[in-house]
Amino acid sequence: MTGWVAIAGLGPGAEALVTPEVTATLADATDVVGYIPYVARVADRPGLTLHASDNRVEVDRARHALQMAAEGRRVVVVSSGDPGVFAMAAAVFEALEAGAPDWRDLDIRVLPGITAMLAAAARAGAPLGHDFCAINLSDNLKPWALIEKRLRLAAEADFAMAFYNPRSKARPEGFARVLKLLRAACGDDRPVIFARAVSTPEEKLTVVPLTEARPEMADMRTVVLVGSSLTRVLRAGDRPLVYTPRSAPE
Ligand SMILES: C[S@@+](CC[C@H](N)C(=O)[O-])C[C@H]1O[C@@H](n2cnc3c(N)ncnc32)[C@H](O)[C@@H]1O
Repeated sequence: MTGWVAIAGLGPGAEALVTPEVTATLADATDVVGYIPYVARVADRPGLTLHASDNRVEVDRARHALQMAAEGRRVVVVSSGDPGVFAMAAAVFEALEAGAPDWRDLDIRVLPGITAMLAAAARAGAPLGHDFCAINLSDNLKPWALIEKRLRLAAEADFAMAFYNPRSKARPEGFARVLKLLRAACGDDRPVIFARAVSTPEEKLTVVPLTEARPEMADMRTVVLVGSSLTRVLRAGDRPLVYTPRSAPE
């Protein structure tokens, strides 16, 4: 088979944060597949077909990409950030596992990108400098009880935490419950970073203690970072610098 599939991360938004590997692979592609706003970030050119689809059809989109590659096309499946973080890489492998046996002979590569939590952490300082975890707060693909269990255990283990998909119009209540649970588990002073649209012209960074964190501070373009008990906020001029030291006491 001469076709291939590359599952590529476009980074958090800025062109400068797209890796050279992803740029080169897009230049060699015949087809780009992905969610509408991510495909819109790829420059159109002769010889390239853009296939933009709705967010709810991930596995259909993955099957379409594999089928086109089996027909000899050079296909890039695009995600924002990193494609392995709450994104298309796992969906492609789900489709591969359930799909035609000859799809497994295809050249399939995952091209990493800068995920939102790392772009946000870099803007804020180094809040993820010690152990941390990442949790997707959407209950579209898992039960809410599992989200709460993971939150409770992450707080008990004193991880810094990164929350993707914190709040949407369809799910306005969940994030308020998350903040309530965290206040009960972590106390009031824990630094919380609301990082919205990082690396785009709409970027906004807000750092508040947990007691001042409000559900409305997050939307679907926000990644939320919560410090561990060791995380500190330094003032440098008018800029808060948030960091978690490299070592934890005995
Ligand atoms: C479906 S997840 C995709 C994550 C993506 N694969 C990544 O690695 O960043 C979408 C969530 O990522 C976060 N996100 C993506 N881009 C962002 C950005 N530029 N600034 C802040 N958060 C972002 C938000 O929490 C958003 O709800």
